[in-house]
Amino acid sequence: MLLALIAGVIASLPAMTQPSEITLRSLAQQHEINIGAAVSIGALRKDSTYREVLAREFNTVTPENVMKFEPIHPERDRYNFTDADELVAFANAHQMQLRGHTLVWHQQLPDWLTAGEWTQAELMDILQQHIYTLVGRYRGQIAAWDVVNEAVGGKDSLRKNIWLEKIGSDYIDLAFRWAHEADPQAKLFYNDYGGEGLGEKSDAIFAFVKELQQRRVPIHGVGFQMHKTIKNPPLPEEVAENMKRLNELGLEVQITEMDVQIHNGTGTRDERLVAQAKVYRDMLGVCLEASNCTAFVTWGFTDKYTWIPGFVGQPDEPLIFDESYRPKPAYNALVDVLKNS
Ligand code: XIL
Repeated sequence: MLLALIAGVIASLPAMTQPSEITLRSLAQQHEINIGAAVSIGALRKDSTYREVLAREFNTVTPENVMKFEPIHPERDRYNFTDADELVAFANAHQMQLRGHTLVWHQQLPDWLTAGEWTQAELMDILQQHIYTLVGRYRGQIAAWDVVNEAVGGKDSLRKNIWLEKIGSDYIDLAFRWAHEADPQAKLFYNDYGGEGLGEKSDAIFAFVKELQQRRVPIHGVGFQMHKTIKNPPLPEEVAENMKRLNELGLEVQITEMDVQIHNGTGTRDERLVAQAKVYRDMLGVCLEASNCTAFVTWGFTDKYTWIPGFVGQPDEPLIFDESYRPKPAYNALVDVLKNS
């Protein structure tokens, strides 16, 4: 009788006495690392489960599109901050950090900009005003900006784009300097794909950022996009080595856009999901081991809204939650690494 009574009391104790929920976000707190996801404004607005999982699991967000040039600066004298403001408000309301993405890129540029016949001085002025306006608006609220995205071509060469053609190679130094003036607290990143491990592209990026430093350009880190496939997974030792040499330059690194395609792998779906989990596990493991790796961000978090099928023209499931927000093996692998390292 007494025992039954005690058991009844224990069962009715409030949830408070239960161990707190294990999430990526709670585990990341024990490490010096931010864990984040790119956010689709459409999903954020319409899907309450999306909002719940995002706020529960992550402490950092990157706008997937809404801070890019075309959406945020649709006409020369008009900005549209509605979507970006909403995302920033969501992040603030949930005590999440923000990565700003991206100030200077060759894609998602508005027609008014690409079709214009600009002189060098005019285009410089446009870029300067764009950076001052955007970075200035969110000054103090954005922890890190991807200032320049995908500008390195091959060895010793820059990608040919409107900025290079009309302003000249100076556009990169200028963009970093203007961003720094507009928000001296923000960490400024060069962000790119394909340079995560060792090889020609990562050598080119390494040489490029070293030159920026020699010219005293304010750069604080390098973003590794990490759009990968299970067919060609990144080699952990190489990524670690690359992070190490950037550390020797005094630079941070962040994994900024990770996703892992499985459609071109071999084996059953379950086997592919296991292979995918390994890639996530390895990359978070490398980041946790590297003293200069300060964030691990995936490009979305649920397969329901991934950009990959649209990009590669194949169905895929490259993220850590499935379309119904069930955690995949990749999610469990990340939890495991955070718990055990
Ligand atoms: C992608 C978005 O995910 C898509 O929604 C959009 O249509 C195109 O851009 N590298 C980057 C990101 O730096 O900005 C890109 O995001 C993916 C590749």
